[in-house]
This record gives sequence, structure tokens and C-alpha cells, in this order.
Amino acid sequence: MLLNVKNVRKQYQRDKVFVAVDNVSFSLVHQDFACIMGRSGSGKTTLLNMIAGIITPTQGRVIIDNTDISVLADKQVSQFRNQTIGYVPQGNSLLTSLNAIENICLPYIFYDKGNQNLTDKENLMERAEQLMQQVGISYLSQLYPKQMSGGEMRRVAIVRSLICAPKLLLADEPTNDLDQESAEQIMQLLATINLEGTAILMVTHDLDVANYAKHQYKMEAGKLHLLS
Ligand SMILES: Nc1ncnc2c1ncn2[C@@H]1O[C@H](COP(=O)(O)OP(=O)(O)OP(=O)(O)O)[C@@H](O)[C@H]1O
Ligand SMILES: [Mg+2]
Repeated sequence: MLLNVKNVRKQYQRDKVFVAVDNVSFSLVHQDFACIMGRSGSGKTTLLNMIAGIITPTQGRVIIDNTDISVLADKQVSQFRNQTIGYVPQGNSLLTSLNAIENICLPYIFYDKGNQNLTDKENLMERAEQLMQQVGISYLSQLYPKQMSGGEMRRVAIVRSLICAPKLLLADEPTNDLDQESAEQIMQLLATINLEGTAILMVTHDLDVANYAKHQYKMEAGKLHLLS
């Protein structure tokens, strides 16, 4: 098993206690492809952020590749995330002061290079260029986010999420705001990444996009239900 989410809950203290994610359990095997649908505010991003170790569950456990990230210290979580998880966050997440290839290489700069053979800068640039070529965005290499379309930025963010060769890719509405053709291109890219061995957990509002996944879940007021 690659990902095991066990009775995870996240509550926020607003005027009163607000439960954003309510006792969620599910799992993914290696090379799985699942999607989560659900209304705005139902807790999808909160769940993804707990799986990525960006926020800590109020209760429950997140076990990834036999590591319980809920018990790790901050620094260890970041290191683990960098080695294991690729994250395409909701919305535009590129740093505006960096060009495409710099954005793409950034996670690697913080990567624990201990057990990997991606060792030097030359290898890194080569890998970044190779990934950009695979995704058909070599022409964007030197451009800055403000010079790119929404779909182009999204593809750069996807390549950035792959630079450390993750086992699990989290993609939060990767096709949001894109026209149908660009959305299909992104989904074909994710399908290929999945075929090549990366498990994917994706959030989407789009039924056509959801059909690319092997399993569909729905989130409703913090609770997760399996649809198919
Ligand atoms: N830091 C926080 N403090 C208080 N409430 C929060 C916080 N973060 C999220 N929430 C609330 O938790 C709920 C779930 O938010 P979340 O971002 O997970 O929704 P979502 O399903 O991703 O929505 P969308 O489809 O709009 O992206 C929302 O009601 C939101 O206001
Ligand atoms: Mg969200």
C-alpha cells in the first residue's frame, strides 16, 4: 500500500469549532489513480494538505509508503514530502520572480540528495529539460509566469511536481480554468505519468476529468464517500 489515510479529522476554531475534514479513511496502492469531487468548501484541499504534511490533522494518521507522517517533526515531514510526493497546488503556484526552468528546479534544491543519483546541477538541468520536452513545454523554459497562459503555468507546475520523481502526485484541480483542449492535454499528461508508475490523487469538479481516474470519491461537508 502506498497511502493509508486513517480516521483523519481537521477542525478549525472559528466562532465555534468547525470540522473541515471529518473522520476520513481511504487508501491508495502504488500506481493508483483516484479523484475527489465535491462542492466548494467541502474539505478537499484541506485533506490534500494533510496528506502532503503541510497541515497537521487534529486526529488520525496519514501513512505513506510505511511512514506515519503524523508523528514526524516539521523538518522531517518536509524532507519526506520532497522525496515522496509531488504537489500541484490549487490555482497559480509558480514564483513570479523565477522563470519556468528555475521554478521547476526549485524543489530539487531543497531535496535530500542522499539516496538518489540526481546529484549535480548538470543532471538536474538535464532532467528538467527532458521533462519539459516530454510535456511539450521546452519553449517556455526561459519565460516568466506573467508571460504564460493559465494552461502553460499549470504544465510548468506539473513538471515542477515531477522533478524529484515522486511516488505520489497530488493535483488540486489541475484543469480548473482551462479550455477543454488544454484540459485534455493536461489529463493525457497525468495519465502518462500514472502509466509510468506514479500514483495520482486529484481533485476536480469536472466529470470528464474525473473519468480518467480509476476510483472516484465525493467529499461532502468533510466526509468522503466512494462513488466508484
Ligand atoms: N485555516 C483555516 N481556518 C479556518 N477555516 C478554514 C481554514 N482553512 C480552510 N478552512 C475552511 O475549511 C473548509 C474547507 O476548505 P477547503 O479549502 O478544504 O475546501 P475545498 O473543498 O478545497 O473548496 P474549493 O473547491 O473551493 O477549493 C472551508 O469552509 C474553509 O473556509
Ligand atoms: Mg480547494
